[in-house]
Amino acid sequence: MRRGSVFQLLAIGLVAGAIATAVAIFIPWLPTPASREAGRIDFVYWFATVISLFIFAVVAAILGYATLNFRAKKDDWSDGPPVHGHTTIEIIWTVIPAVLVTSIAIVSAIVLAKDSHAGPNPLVIKVYGQQFAWQFQYPNGQLYDNLHLPIDRGVKLEITSRDVLHSFWVPQFAQKQDAVPGQFNTLVITPDRLGTYPIICTELCGLGHSVMRSQATVMSQSDYAKWYKASTAPPPAAGGGSSGNAAAISTFTSNGCTACHTFTPIPSARGKVGPDLDKLKEDAAAAKESLTDFIHESIVDPNAYIAPGFQPNVMPPTFGKSIPAAQIDALVQYLAANTH
Ligand code: CUA
Repeated sequence: MRRGSVFQLLAIGLVAGAIATAVAIFIPWLPTPASREAGRIDFVYWFATVISLFIFAVVAAILGYATLNFRAKKDDWSDGPPVHGHTTIEIIWTVIPAVLVTSIAIVSAIVLAKDSHAGPNPLVIKVYGQQFAWQFQYPNGQLYDNLHLPIDRGVKLEITSRDVLHSFWVPQFAQKQDAVPGQFNTLVITPDRLGTYPIICTELCGLGHSVMRSQATVMSQSDYAKWYKASTAPPPAAGGGSSGNAAAISTFTSNGCTACHTFTPIPSARGKVGPDLDKLKEDAAAAKESLTDFIHESIVDPNAYIAPGFQPNVMPPTFGKSIPAAQIDALVQYLAANTH
């Protein structure tokens, strides 16, 4: 081989490798990790990418070099010289890829094992998916619309669904986990970066799939302790009055109504998928029904009257079966008494 040819081979390999490396580095393919698990997954990604870039440069160099130097001359239809096996090269191109692929497998297996281990004292949170909202149940038994997580503490999510298949995903935490009715799937998160990140449903689950979103806020340990204490409500007193309201509000929020409906007396109810519940009186009048009959019908048989500008079959028709009748009645009374 001529000396200049070796430089040509190296030059093609370096240029191809540099272009591919620039594509890998300068396009933000993945979000910045916000958990230790995501950081490890990021490492596996770069580990495999660096190996791939090296192999790509070698293949591009040999391909480009061969194309430039071993072209058949025009109108040369003769056979090339016969080629026999070359044991040394065959051993090289078998052993090197085998070592590289095995190293990726080992690194992946270590990361997979570490990422499913929550440590000795994890914060266990139950996650409920439901058309079309997420609910998070903390050790105090209360349900929340959003996740609040302390930094640097292992969190074990136990994820399930109240109706159809959903899937829990926070891009900055890297992992996804399916929400399946009748079983709890676990996902371990150890947040290591403060901030607020989107929680996305990543399994097509119906018309409201694209709005089935919440937020995960990673807080300092002391801010988390303050938030948890402040948000833990005292147990409701027996009897009616304001605790009846509290029960109705809990029925409303725990069934995901806040994701789709706006209702001013409940601050978390800011959804725009379904009709504005501050205007229930206008809708009842348009449907020519009494206010309480209209609200009751809209919960148990949502397709009976569709407000102008909205679509049928968006609201799940199952609440009449999934919510006990007494709870529905209390919710109807609460909504009727508190709408404008
Ligand atoms: Cu729930 Cu998509």
